[in-house]
Amino acid sequence: MMSRNFIALIAILAVVGPWSALAIKAHDFKTCKDAAFCDRLRGVRGPAVHIDPASVSVSGAHVAASIVNPAAPNATLSLRLLSLGSTVRLHVTELSSLRYEVPGILLPSVSEMLEEWKVLQTSDDALELQTSAGHRVVLGFSPPSVACFSPSGEPILKWNADGYFAFEHTRTKQEGDPEGWWEEEFRGHRDSKPQGPNAIAFDVLMEGVQHVYGIPERASRLSLPASVDPNGTAPGEPYRMYNLDVFEYLSDSPFGLYGSIPLLMGHRPAQTSAVFWLNAAEMYVDLAKSEAGTSSRWIAESGVLDVFFLLGPSSSAVAAQYARLTGGTALPQLFSLGYHQCRWNYKDEADVAGVDAGFDLHGIPYDVLWLDIEHTDGKRYFTWDKNLFPTPVRMQQDLASRGRKMVNIVDPHIKTDANYRVYKEAEEKGLFVKNKDGTSFKGHCWPGESAYLDVTNPDVRAWWSQQFYTSVYKESTTNLYIWNDMNEPSVFNGPEITMAKDLLHHGGAEHRDVHNAFGLYYHQGTVEGLRNRGFKEISSEYGDRPFVLSRAFFSGTQRLGPIWTGDNSAEWGHLQASVPMLLSLGVAGLPFSGADVGGFFGNPDAELLTRWYQLAAYYPFFRGHAHIETKRREPWLFGEDATRRVREAIRARYRLMPYLYTLFARANATGEPVMRPLFWEFGDDEAVFDNQEEFLVGPGLLVAPALHQGAAAVPVTLPGRGLWHSLDSGRAYDAALEGDRLHVASADLDALPPTYLRGGHAVTMRERPRRSTAAMRGDPVTLVLGLDRAGVARGELYLDDGRSYAYALAGEYVHATFSLKNNELRWATTDGRDLGLPAPSAEYDPGVVVDRIVILGLADPAAWQARAGDRAVEAEPGPVRAATAVETPALVLRKVALPIKGSWTVTLERRAAASS
Ligand SMILES: *[C@@H]1O[C@H](CO)[C@@H](O)[C@H](O)[C@H]1NC(C)=O
Ligand SMILES: *[C@@H]1O[C@H](CO)[C@@H](O)[C@H](O)[C@H]1NC(C)=O
Ligand SMILES: *[C@@H]1O[C@H](CO)[C@@H](O)[C@H](O)[C@H]1NC(C)=O
Repeated sequence: MMSRNFIALIAILAVVGPWSALAIKAHDFKTCKDAAFCDRLRGVRGPAVHIDPASVSVSGAHVAASIVNPAAPNATLSLRLLSLGSTVRLHVTELSSLRYEVPGILLPSVSEMLEEWKVLQTSDDALELQTSAGHRVVLGFSPPSVACFSPSGEPILKWNADGYFAFEHTRTKQEGDPEGWWEEEFRGHRDSKPQGPNAIAFDVLMEGVQHVYGIPERASRLSLPASVDPNGTAPGEPYRMYNLDVFEYLSDSPFGLYGSIPLLMGHRPAQTSAVFWLNAAEMYVDLAKSEAGTSSRWIAESGVLDVFFLLGPSSSAVAAQYARLTGGTALPQLFSLGYHQCRWNYKDEADVAGVDAGFDLHGIPYDVLWLDIEHTDGKRYFTWDKNLFPTPVRMQQDLASRGRKMVNIVDPHIKTDANYRVYKEAEEKGLFVKNKDGTSFKGHCWPGESAYLDVTNPDVRAWWSQQFYTSVYKESTTNLYIWNDMNEPSVFNGPEITMAKDLLHHGGAEHRDVHNAFGLYYHQGTVEGLRNRGFKEISSEYGDRPFVLSRAFFSGTQRLGPIWTGDNSAEWGHLQASVPMLLSLGVAGLPFSGADVGGFFGNPDAELLTRWYQLAAYYPFFRGHAHIETKRREPWLFGEDATRRVREAIRARYRLMPYLYTLFARANATGEPVMRPLFWEFGDDEAVFDNQEEFLVGPGLLVAPALHQGAAAVPVTLPGRGLWHSLDSGRAYDAALEGDRLHVASADLDALPPTYLRGGHAVTMRERPRRSTAAMRGDPVTLVLGLDRAGVARGELYLDDGRSYAYALAGEYVHATFSLKNNELRWATTDGRDLGLPAPSAEYDPGVVVDRIVILGLADPAAWQARAGDRAVEAEPGPVRAATAVETPALVLRKVALPIKGSWTVTLERRAAASS
């Protein structure tokens, strides 16, 4: 939720009207010119520095060297260049001062990734090296530069190609130092800067690249536009990364929102690469595009230069390289992929019971009911307003009896009330963020005056994690999960609605150094709490996978849980913006994300709400949410037509659950996004490099949502040159034919968004409508296969208890791959290695069967019959689903009744001529 000021503003706007007036609020936030370090370094080439050739040494995976600045003899820098296989790490810091390095973001295993350099050549002006993966890497000395080439010799990227490298060394204050070095002010907030100027800048040229992606979070295009021209003139605003509680995203703005991932991916045909700067300080990135490629120019306020070049060559290879550094996506509980119903606020127990019953009454599945801040006693988290929620345990158990969960909000601001246990204990133990004088910092947030736990300290996180045991969190149950909001952190009376940069953290770090990672550390403490609770209170053997939604994020958040895109509004522009926002998060290694369905602010009409559900059924995280001042908008409040349409959309989500869950198992193992931009899978099809109107779910399912008011049709672009099968009509489209590749699909409000199955791929489904994911546990699985030109299709299915760590600790899972080829569908369970899992347990058997098999793309489906071993299987032409319009029938096999565990073959045979 947004700040008080904003709520007041909404009230004003309700009177004065249009949302465009929101631009006024932008004055609360800085532009580059308002940040002394950005203003100082933007567009300015760095000082003439060089690597001292005599200082260069190579030892195993390490290259060490000194960077000398003749104009500042005491400002020598130490450079290290490390080989991590297809990743190259460049680390530069001062010899003479201890700068902040962000702890706990890289996996401990990164230290084991080092691979020996091969020295190709040494000279007075360069050192030529080769990685174990065959990349040539050239360290230039004057000016310092690092150029990386593919194993076949193509240039990939070059650090300091344009000479923007600048490293402001630590110094002592002198008379006559420039303004902005030792203090600055923004809108009445003074930042004392005891460390003085400490910023770092550099550029990276991605060679031959015109499309770059990532560096979330902002509501901008997927393929990020240039912010400056190649020579650095005519600047727009650079892209900013500084986690802030921003009321509203103006679409197409480089302005940074609630979270930051300093990872920029560049793509050209046959070569994807990325730059990742591990630094949590305020950061700006300019993009300049020219024939040579895209030059990215980075500036951060403090910290060290610790940059990783991920050399690909494909987008999936980059995702895997990034996941090896910062981790894959946590495997979520199955329930968390269901639909979540949230509102600020469900008022009381009767309201909760009524909303829950409404879903059953209207036959709409959902898994989780959420409570926002008003459920607490005066915004004291871990308490209940006992007038409104007199029997919270009974309420949670009631939801649990129908297989559903509850989520409560717990925010990082702690009300400074001496009678509030959490505050009292934390204050006594000295766990809060400190002012410069050592006292606890106090700011304003929802509860009024609040203190903020210093979650950068592992001991504080350990204490925080204990608050989630049901014995400590009174009247919570193990059916309750958590939502962390406002963790940028939001401080209503602070500069830019956050903490002042000169506040102090663990180990003497300034808030300036840790800002962008603060929200992650808080999220981490909560996640550790739920994980500990699971092992202590649910299953000491296998635990319970945490579910904690966060608004702020940083690199590594994917290991913790989902995020949402914050306070959007009920406007078509925000529906549209949600697609590139979520795609950008996936590109940056954070696949589990969603936007509030319906828009947080304002009131959607039935059409917008319907379209939003139809789109969001394919978001990785699917939650409806609304501001306290909006009209109620449970899915059945917009008339019968809208109710039916929303029901269909949510049911479509639930049908796809086996496919989605399998994609998350992949995201866990490989870091690949669940919702993917078209370029991800079609890296040679330049026409789709900036497509942000369509997206893929996994490798095989293309969704073309209606994003505009009144749309009766959507223009569809089918990428690549292969076949695509409409999951609505069954019709095959051939992307090699212009008329099929670009076509217009009907977008009737009654229909789900047009979806296409990629030739050669398959999706798995569970088709029985149920009230929740829990109720689907034993349901049979349907395979839908779309043949490619060679008559081949393949897919996979991952399934486990959907809840615990038994899959990883005891091999309790089933992973099967299947392929249809030469008229034989072969199914076989795997040893899990491909998903990074231990061998599957022989005993574990979920008792689930494949019951229906739908094959799209056979020329004459009526001509085929099928058998499994000696048994004939019912086979006849039909629609993909009972409800869909048949243009081209599929071959549908029924009552297949073959187990998902084990291996089997179904054979297709042509019917004898007489019977066809
Ligand atoms: C470099 O450091 C030495 C020793 O600390 C000091 O005496 C000298 O003034 C410094 N020089 C510059 C240019 O800062
Ligand atoms: C900067 O680059 C642009 C685009 O290449 C060019 O048109 C312009 O003339 C250049 N300006 C200067 C001052 O060099
Ligand atoms: C997969 O998820 C589990 C559970 O969240 C986690 O322990 C594991 O590290 C993840 N795997 C990878 C490769 O990140």
